[in-house]
Amino acid sequence: MINNLKNKKILLGITGSIAAYKSPMLVRELIKLGAEVEVITTPSALQFVTPITLASVSKNKVVSDMFDMSGQNEGAWHIHLAHWCDLAIIAPCSATTLGKLANGIADNALLAVFMAIPKNIPIVIAPAMDTTMFEFPATQNNIKTLQDFGFSILPPDSGELASGLTGPGRLPDVNVITNHISQVLENEISSQSANINQNERLNELINSPLEPLEQAVEKGKFQAELELERMKNSLIDNELSKYFKDKKVLITAGPTVERIDPVRYISNFSSGKMGYAIADVARKYAKEVMLISGQVSLTPPENVKFVSIESADELNQVMQANYEQYDVIIMAAAVADYKLANPFPQKHKHNESNLQLELVPTVDILGNIGPKKRENQILVGFALETNDALENAKHKLRKKNLDLIILNIYDDNNQVFGSDLNEVIIIDKNLKENHIEKASKTKISIEILKKIANLK
Ligand code: CTP
Repeated sequence: MINNLKNKKILLGITGSIAAYKSPMLVRELIKLGAEVEVITTPSALQFVTPITLASVSKNKVVSDMFDMSGQNEGAWHIHLAHWCDLAIIAPCSATTLGKLANGIADNALLAVFMAIPKNIPIVIAPAMDTTMFEFPATQNNIKTLQDFGFSILPPDSGELASGLTGPGRLPDVNVITNHISQVLENEISSQSANINQNERLNELINSPLEPLEQAVEKGKFQAELELERMKNSLIDNELSKYFKDKKVLITAGPTVERIDPVRYISNFSSGKMGYAIADVARKYAKEVMLISGQVSLTPPENVKFVSIESADELNQVMQANYEQYDVIIMAAAVADYKLANPFPQKHKHNESNLQLELVPTVDILGNIGPKKRENQILVGFALETNDALENAKHKLRKKNLDLIILNIYDDNNQVFGSDLNEVIIIDKNLKENHIEKASKTKISIEILKKIANLK
């Protein structure tokens, strides 16, 4: 395949389809092939990919807003942009943009520019959407209409889609798109292609720095992974900020301490790391985060309302005073199940006889809130079981009326307490299990918050 993209001006339109996450890779590939790229997006595309990423890979300002004049120095900027390019492509093209383009509706910057593209400039459309949307009769009609207009349609790939369905709708791989663009340009410029300057290409090859193949491959792989990671993160960022931006989140963490006398207590091994990690991630996205913590040796994250507690009773008091105001309550604290019926007011002295302590149950804080939680309030509990783990966790989920329960995977070799790593199974109300492999407590927190954001 010859590279006819060198010095070509490509206008890339991006719309609100999950496949928009591939767009920065497409921009980068086009630039690698020598093209100059201008990016224009619909407002909903920005739910999937950020203008900063697109601007940094395209090295040009990204246009998304019809009336934002900061990057548009002339009133008829959309006409200039439309006339500037050698080829224009919309990838991914959503069902909505297909429909609007087929019907001449120009209610955003992308559509206004694409409708102003002169007849002699080729336009490529790469539809990407869920199979059922792709098969919808109106979508099929719109595709036919655009074909009749002379647009080149790059058919979607078949495969697994974001919805979990399998079928046509996936945006083809980046190299398939660039090959298609090359072919379309080739047809347009076949007469010019004979003039490709062989000497220029040769010079380019001779002057390019040498790099051992292995190193180059490694580097490419690493960069691709980093890029994918960055893209995934920006998708997660969008998803979490969208859900949590107007939510108040209450998190409890750490052990409770039940006094025997002024210097002795009953407690457990909880380090508080899981709850603190959740608070640290949540504060980036939520409107407000309150962290209620037992006695641990961790520094609370900044910008959270922090309350320190000692006993289950104290935790209960703080919870009772606050829980109603919070939209999401995550109970990661390891609350003692028993406390002393009568703690000694003074230090108990050692003597030769046995000592019997009378323990009485503490209040089940989560169990009390569960039945009273208001509509749309999300309640998340934790469980750590040494036997019949799944069964016990599911029982707690139902008994305490929770939306989710996070079951810590426990085995003799698995050090949950105090570790920076954790492995969990997230169980939802429909008893659907989601196993999260061993990962940092930060990663586990992201998975938990993602699950909350996607609760139906
Ligand atoms: N929990 C609570 N109040 C208690 C005990 C537990 O709010 N007195 C919360 C924990 O913070 C956790 C969930 O309930 O989110 C499950 O805790 P766990 O101790 O596993 O549940 P229990 O109901 O105490 O059951 P078990 O008999 O297994 O201890």
